[in-house]
Amino acid sequence: MEDYEVKKVIQIDNNISLAESEKILDSDDVCLGLLDESREISSFVIRKDLLSALKFGIKNMPISLIATKADFLKQDEINSAKADVFNFTPSSLNKGVFAGTDKKNTDRLFIARYDCTNKSTENMKDIFEAALCEKTRTALAYCSKAADKISLPVYIIGGIVRDLITGKKSLDIDLTVEENAIEFSRFLEKEYRNICRIVSIHDDFKTAKVAFNINGEQIIFDIASTRKESYKKPAELPVIEEIGCNICEDVSRRDFTINSMAISLNEKLFCDLIDPLKAYNDLQKGIIRVIHPLSFVDDPTRIIRALKFSVRFGFELESATKSLQESCLRSGLFTGLCGERVKSEIKQTFNLNKKECFDKFVDEKIFLLVSENILNGKKLVCGQQIETAVSKYFKYIENPDFIWLIYLGSLLINITENETAEILLKLNLSGIETRILNQVRDIVAKTDLIEKTQTRFEVYELLENYSATSIITALINMKNEKAASKLDLYLKELKDIKIHTTGKDLVEAGFLPGPVFGDILHELLKARINGEILSQENEKEFIERYKKA
Ligand code: CTP
Repeated sequence: MEDYEVKKVIQIDNNISLAESEKILDSDDVCLGLLDESREISSFVIRKDLLSALKFGIKNMPISLIATKADFLKQDEINSAKADVFNFTPSSLNKGVFAGTDKKNTDRLFIARYDCTNKSTENMKDIFEAALCEKTRTALAYCSKAADKISLPVYIIGGIVRDLITGKKSLDIDLTVEENAIEFSRFLEKEYRNICRIVSIHDDFKTAKVAFNINGEQIIFDIASTRKESYKKPAELPVIEEIGCNICEDVSRRDFTINSMAISLNEKLFCDLIDPLKAYNDLQKGIIRVIHPLSFVDDPTRIIRALKFSVRFGFELESATKSLQESCLRSGLFTGLCGERVKSEIKQTFNLNKKECFDKFVDEKIFLLVSENILNGKKLVCGQQIETAVSKYFKYIENPDFIWLIYLGSLLINITENETAEILLKLNLSGIETRILNQVRDIVAKTDLIEKTQTRFEVYELLENYSATSIITALINMKNEKAASKLDLYLKELKDIKIHTTGKDLVEAGFLPGPVFGDILHELLKARINGEILSQENEKEFIERYKKA
C-alpha cells in the first residue's frame, strides 16, 4: 500500500460555510481546494475533518477555519518529489501537496496516509542511559519489570521524550500504559510494597502519581492510561472515549508532533522509539506542527503552548499550523475556554522572560484568548522593554514566579478597571496575584502625584505600600519619564532603608510610651530617607535634639 492517498480536488471559495461545504464534499475520494484572494488553491479540507467540525454545531463558520495549507507541485515534479514530501513513510495527519498544471488548475491532492503503526525505526537506549540518572532508571526498571509480568505495554511519553532527544533537561517524567493506569499503579504498589506508593489518583482521566523511594531519594512518575478523546464543544475539556487504546491512537490526540513520541520500556522493545507521526523529523528540523486541523479549535490553549515551545526551543511554527492558528483566533470560538488553563500556559510562557513571547502574543493576536480589548486603540510597550526591565530589577521581584505578572500587567494596561477585574477572576488569579496587578493600576493612576514629589521621602510615602513587582510593572508602562525615574529611585535607593532606633531605645532615651513614639520614628525615617541623617550615631543625636525641642 502506498503511504499516501490521492483525492480529486473540488475548488471552492474559502469563505463558504461548513454547512454549504458539506453538500459539496459528499465523498472521501474528493477534497475541497480553497481558493485564496488571487483565485489560486492554497489549502484543502477533507471530509473526515469537516464532519468532526460539524459535530461542534458551528455550521455557519467559514470552511477556512479547518483548512490545511498545502504546497503545489507541477504534474511532472510530483513523482520525484514524493520522497521528500512524504518521506516514504506515513507522516503527520495533515500533510498534503496539490498537483496540477498550475495553482489555478489543480486537480489532485496527495495526502499522507496515517496507518497508525508502532513499528520503531530508532532505538534510544544510548540517549536514555546518558540523560537519565541512575535512580530514575532504577525506578523505571521496576515499572518495566512489573508491566512485563502482566504483559502490559508501558512507555515514557510526551515532553520527556522530546527533551531526551534534544538533550534538554526535563522535570516531569510521564508514563503511559495501554490499560487503566490507576490499576497499574496499585499493582506497582503491591509489587514493591516497601519502596513504591501512590501519591495521588485522578479518576476522571484515569491517571495516577506514584513515588519510588530509591536509596532515600523520591522518584516521581505521572502514569496515564492511553486514551482516545473527543471534544463536544470547541475549547471545552475533552471527553474520554476509550481507556487503554493502542499507543498510536493515544499519540494522535496530542497537541504537536514533537510531543507525540513514546519510548517503549518493555524488555523486548526496550527503548524503541514509537513515532507514528514522524515527529523525529520535525524535532530535528525545529518545527512545531499540529497533528490535525481541528487541534486549535478543540483546545485553543495549544496556541499559547505553541508560542511557549517555539520560544523555549527556538522552533518555528510550520506554515499550515500557523494558518490554522490564525483561523482559530479569527473565529472567536473560545468562550468555553477554562481561564485556569489559559493562566497556566500564559504563566509558563511569560515566566521564560523572553521578549518574543510578549511581542508574538501581541502581533499574532494571541491576546484574543484573554480579551479583545487589549489594544483599545493604544500602543503597548514592546517585549524588549519588559525583558530588559525584568533583568535590571530582577533582585527586587519578590518571587521569580511573579515574572509573568509583569508581562500580563503590561498587556492589561489599556483595559478598563471593570474588565481587568473580570479577566483576573476568569483566569483565576490568586489573592496575591490579583493584588499585584491591581496595584499597578493604582500606581499608574498616581503618575502626576509621583512626578510632583519634591523630596525622597515623598516618593517613599507614595510607594511604600506597593509590591516591588507592581512598581516594576508600572515603571515599564509609565509614559511620564520623570515619574518613572522616581519609581526607579524608590526601588534602587529608598525601598529598603530602615532606621536602627526601636521603641526600647526611645524608652532608654527617657520618652514615655505613647503616640509620640510613632511621631519620632516617622520623623527619623523621613530624615534618614531624605539623607539628613546617615548613621545610628546620627539617629541618637536626632533623638536628643527632639527631646530638647
Ligand atoms: N498535551 C496536549 N494538549 C494540551 C496539553 C498537553 O496534547 N493542551 C499533551 C502533550 O502531548 C504534552 C503532554 O500532554 O506533551 C503533557 O503536557 P505538559 O506536561 O503540559 O507538557 P510537556 O510536553 O511535558 O511540556 P513541559 O516541558 O512544558 O512540561
